[in-house]
Amino acid sequence: MEGEAPSVISHDVRTGTRPDRNLALELVRVTEAAALAAARWVGHGEKEEADQAAVDAMRLMLDTVPMDGVVVIGEGEKDEAPMLHNGERIGDGSPPEVDIAVDPLEGTRLTARGMPSALAVIALAERGTMFDPGPSVYMEKLAGGPEVADLLSLTEPLPEVIRRVAERKGVDAAEITVIMLDRSRHADAVAEIRSSGARIRFITDGDVSAALFAVSQGTGVDLLWGIGGTPEGVLSAAAIKCLGGQLLGRLWPRDDDERQAAVAAGYDLDEVLDVDRLVAGTDVFFAATGVTDGDLLQGVRYLGDGHATTESLVMRSRSGTVRTVQARHDRPKLREVTGGRYG
Ligand code: FBP
Repeated sequence: MEGEAPSVISHDVRTGTRPDRNLALELVRVTEAAALAAARWVGHGEKEEADQAAVDAMRLMLDTVPMDGVVVIGEGEKDEAPMLHNGERIGDGSPPEVDIAVDPLEGTRLTARGMPSALAVIALAERGTMFDPGPSVYMEKLAGGPEVADLLSLTEPLPEVIRRVAERKGVDAAEITVIMLDRSRHADAVAEIRSSGARIRFITDGDVSAALFAVSQGTGVDLLWGIGGTPEGVLSAAAIKCLGGQLLGRLWPRDDDERQAAVAAGYDLDEVLDVDRLVAGTDVFFAATGVTDGDLLQGVRYLGDGHATTESLVMRSRSGTVRTVQARHDRPKLREVTGGRYG
């Protein structure tokens, strides 16, 4: 129908007469591969190498996925990124037609320094439904779980949002915890949040993991706020469409040049983008595998007999199924089947 997102699922499936294939279960092999490859670089101080290893492994596995994909959120422009660049065609070329967002290593510095919560991440949605950030590198983000999703706002002061969230949760504002990237650009917001009485949990990197943490129940974190990567905002939105909750984003140009480039490309810098604007599709698939141990997922662990374990989150918005997948990998066999590319 005109104006509606094209569906990646058949009529039978839409009408509920037949369950279809869950691509997220194929995608978890892709994020496992990227995590296993990046994990070899944990603590080595080489973030580019760690990222490259994850990209190579992810790319290798992606062509085995039965889909006709276009990278919307990737490693950057074609000339700078030989693989997984924006616009690249991915998959074996068979239906469904999908948009792809990847962050083969979300937390390159975390990996290089052996710090918590580095992830390998991928999301898919129907073709033409993912927000393309264009020249905008950063986005202001506010995320919270399903019980407070309707209270979030980027146009009202943060203390007011915190007050409402506290009221809804039946706690004092001093009992609300906001997770945020530790960045000097956040100084004003930090002062505002502190003035409300709320507590802050600072992280050095990794706001996808933090967003998922903020929307999940029982984590001790109530909200995520911060200016972080726009691609990470789209990936977080894809995950939140599966988990429930809300993420609001607003493009945040660093300077006049970025502002002008975004406006010239047709972006409205005042627009508040919610999860349905960031990922308009209704059949969204998301997979993430832990690289280093974190709040959300365990990282890659070596068992000492040639095996390694991974832990992944695998989700689909249409069914609402959220799976945690634990896997044991035989590294010598993996090296054999991948021609030594990872394992
Ligand atoms: P990388 O994995 O690309 O290093 O990104 C990590 C990250 O912390 C993201 O989670 C976050 O959105 C972004 O960087 C913040 O950017 P910056 O480090 O420039 O403030």
